[in-house]
Amino acid sequence: MSFEFHNLRSGLATTSSDDQFAQAVLDGLSRNPKRLPSWLIYDDLGSELFTDITQLEGYHPAQCEFEIFEKHKQAVVDVLTKEPFRVIELGAGDGRKTQILLEHFIQSGLIFEYVPIDISEGAVRNLVAELESQFPHSTMSVNGLAADYFDGLQAIKEDSTLRNMVLFLGSTIGNMELPAAETFIRTLRESLNEGDYVMIGFDLMKHPKTLYAAYNDATGVFETFNLHLLDVVNEKLGANFKKDHYVQQGHYNPSTHAVESYIYSTREQVVFIEALGREFYFAAWEPMQAEHSYKYTQHEIETLATTCGYEIVKHLFDVNDHFVDSIWEVKRT
Ligand SMILES: C[S@@+](CC[C@H](N)C(=O)[O-])C[C@H]1O[C@@H](n2cnc3c(N)ncnc32)[C@H](O)[C@@H]1O
Repeated sequence: MSFEFHNLRSGLATTSSDDQFAQAVLDGLSRNPKRLPSWLIYDDLGSELFTDITQLEGYHPAQCEFEIFEKHKQAVVDVLTKEPFRVIELGAGDGRKTQILLEHFIQSGLIFEYVPIDISEGAVRNLVAELESQFPHSTMSVNGLAADYFDGLQAIKEDSTLRNMVLFLGSTIGNMELPAAETFIRTLRESLNEGDYVMIGFDLMKHPKTLYAAYNDATGVFETFNLHLLDVVNEKLGANFKKDHYVQQGHYNPSTHAVESYIYSTREQVVFIEALGREFYFAAWEPMQAEHSYKYTQHEIETLATTCGYEIVKHLFDVNDHFVDSIWEVKRT
């Protein structure tokens, strides 16, 4: 079994994603109120800082998903046939939760390929190396791709004898607003074959105090993660954000059904972004939204699945019903 890594973010692909990044910053800082999308934060360090979040005891989305995989790993095996299959993970990050499933697939004698895809090159490189050291001689082969979600999916060799299961975990879907999530799920379906599966991790609506606690840890890990966005913009676009002139706080917003993290400018200041050739003014205590994490109801999840052309196979819940990993099958009618 082989362990491979491919970087699809070189040459032209990098140029186009750099343009996308610059455009997103320009659009976001030109809005009122200012708002930068969550995906901008994920360079290699951003991905590592997210791993620190997943280790926080109070960050229930990660703790619940660990619990769900430990408890329901056999239910996932039961969904997959005994035929060879391929597990594709979008935004795999450190893949720690996924390893619970991969190990169980191996122990169950299943033959499969695992394709982790992530825009963070470091995250995919480390994950492939980790899997090679953990499972050197097993029934699993690994093909890690440093790529944007759909560039990675397109690059995977079409093989209609392999059934695909696409994982999209960690409530990453919550970073999209509902219409964008629907577009994403429909586009994903177009890349798949009839009978393929997806398993998506959704954080469920719950007590706002629980949500507040999850996104406002006492140790400042969330603040470090969110303020890293300023470093990324400084590095990629030659901006002069001074990180210690900003603070961060998360809030549940009942009108958007999302936890929104805001970066507040602690003083009046002007930031120059060289790559955009523009200055941006911040008033004292002006908020800039940096994270959006939508909280779903079960009804919304089911509507999303069925209106986008999937059949719901199983919902896997944690013991408190705080989170669900929902397995759907692609239907073409
Ligand atoms: C919220 S983290 C989740 C990580 C992991 N799945 C987990 O559950 O712990 C989102 C991950 O998606 C990756 N990501 C974000 N936008 C991406 C994109 N457009 N294409 C590929 N990966 C992306 C990030 O680098 C990050 O590792």
